[in-house]
Amino acid sequence: MRNTTKEIAGVLLLTCLLVACSNPGNSPAAVKAGSAGQPWWKEAVVYQLYPRSFQDSDGDGVGDLKGITQRLDYLQSLGIDAIWMNPICASPNDDNGYDISDYKAIMKEMGTMADFDEMLAGMKKRNIRLIMDLVLNHSSDEHEWFLGAKSSRTHPFRNYYHWWPAEKGTPPRRYSLFDENADAWKFDSTTNSYYLHYFSRKQPDLNWENPALRKEMYDIMQFWLEKGVSGFRLDAFPFMAKDTSWPAMPADFTNEQFIRYYGADPKVHDYLREMNEQVLSKYGEIYTVGEGGVIPFSKVMDFVDERRKEINTLYHDELANAWGRDSFDVGPYRVGRNNVLGIKQIITKWDDKFREKGWSTLFLTNHDQARAVSKFGNDLPAWRTLSAQMLHTFLFTQRITPYLYNGDEIGMTNIRFKDIRQYNDLQARNQYNLALRESKAKADEYLRYQQELGRDNSRTPIQWNSSVNAGFTTGKPWLPVNENYTSLNVALQETDSSSVLHYIRRMIRLRKTYKDVLVYGTYTPADAVNPDVFAYIREGDGKKILVLLNFRDHDVQVNPGVEYNKAQKLIGNYTTDVAPGILRPYEAALFLL
Ligand code: NOJ
Repeated sequence: MRNTTKEIAGVLLLTCLLVACSNPGNSPAAVKAGSAGQPWWKEAVVYQLYPRSFQDSDGDGVGDLKGITQRLDYLQSLGIDAIWMNPICASPNDDNGYDISDYKAIMKEMGTMADFDEMLAGMKKRNIRLIMDLVLNHSSDEHEWFLGAKSSRTHPFRNYYHWWPAEKGTPPRRYSLFDENADAWKFDSTTNSYYLHYFSRKQPDLNWENPALRKEMYDIMQFWLEKGVSGFRLDAFPFMAKDTSWPAMPADFTNEQFIRYYGADPKVHDYLREMNEQVLSKYGEIYTVGEGGVIPFSKVMDFVDERRKEINTLYHDELANAWGRDSFDVGPYRVGRNNVLGIKQIITKWDDKFREKGWSTLFLTNHDQARAVSKFGNDLPAWRTLSAQMLHTFLFTQRITPYLYNGDEIGMTNIRFKDIRQYNDLQARNQYNLALRESKAKADEYLRYQQELGRDNSRTPIQWNSSVNAGFTTGKPWLPVNENYTSLNVALQETDSSSVLHYIRRMIRLRKTYKDVLVYGTYTPADAVNPDVFAYIREGDGKKILVLLNFRDHDVQVNPGVEYNKAQKLIGNYTTDVAPGILRPYEAALFLL
């Protein structure tokens, strides 16, 4: 057996690494533009919606498009401008929609194309744009392209995928992020060949070197743009371009060499430019955000510099990977501690990168990450509300496009499954089995890691109310509802003006009111050496706002170097005042200096 632990750790790192339009034919006239001279997406608040878990309308236990339509007024009430929706296209759901079998059809559990049209019309009516998830690197093995491709070496779809003929021997090692043997080449006897799959066996990698495949993908993008979507989130896009001479990986391969062997081959820039020229540029101000976790920091601008005409923004995983409470230190899987100085360093470094040009994004939770309040805050009942409010004060005062993950607006927490059989996530199940082959101890360690950082934590159904299944479904939910739903749900928080929900609405409003400062203004760290507090000053349009954030569950001192005790407090998560220079547990406050 190969070095399983190292491979899982590598895979984890990589996976950890792991939006509105003026469509000429279908112009969303109701949707607002950005400030003068600025594209709309810079000042947009994007809500990430995981449709499987949002709202089920037909009792099959899986969220659907009609369910989303029923909740549009709620979404509008948050003050969001756009929704990035995880995949909704036809899929056998090996990886919850990231394995698409028909890019122009709706997944049957989610509804019909008519439901989609109705949902999109409802969004437009409410000034909410839709960003589709575009799965570029791989299709489902049940897609007609792959069914054709694997039927014969001469099939017209054969070169839509990557093949290695078995007569050449075993293909050069590539490990797969999701495969149960961690092997990215799968033998297929029909044509005596191996096909490549960086993710699961049911997600064969598409061959972007083939112009016919690229044309198909552009056609798919056009299909959705004609319908009126406003942008795309580009799933795993750095992997589209590979070195197809398949150089042998060195024995001492490390993740630092990842790009060399796995993706972001220089050709990726050609594909993105071509995509821009042939599709995106024809539809007005379309927004693109790439899943950029594997892009080295030094190369980021090569993708998002406006002059290069590739994509608008990337999201990185540095923050998600660098944070965590001390208790998450599980064997080889720990990637960081709740190290406030480290957090500041990351934020400052990224802000600096975009000081002159380009634009960035930030998220606290996404569908590949654990819940923010459990991971970076404190999900004990005593601290949940305060720490969720503090974390979102941080998110909404950064000079980026913020992504608010569904459920985080009420401070939903990790579910922490105890048994591997409770997991739906194929990555968790396959990597658990891989660890188990090494030893039971390794498997247990992996399970503890999953409890804190696993993907299913953020995928449990949205907790709407205290009724059965939290109001998500009348059937059996596809993933269990977190038991805390009777005390943590939207309905309860609607009635409590001190809730996370109300606070986040206020915070989003404030970001918009002071957008010259909070969206576009400069960012300057304050009290930089303070190991407990993140403090900074945002400045724009002649105004200065001081942001104070206590990341600890106890009182701390703060010395931001500016006088703020007489300044106007714009928002805070405590109603009473305290002596200047002191912050209470998880306190967050903004002062207009
Ligand atoms: C990244 C997506 O965010 C993740 O959920 C998915 O499993 C992989 N790409 C494969 O598509």
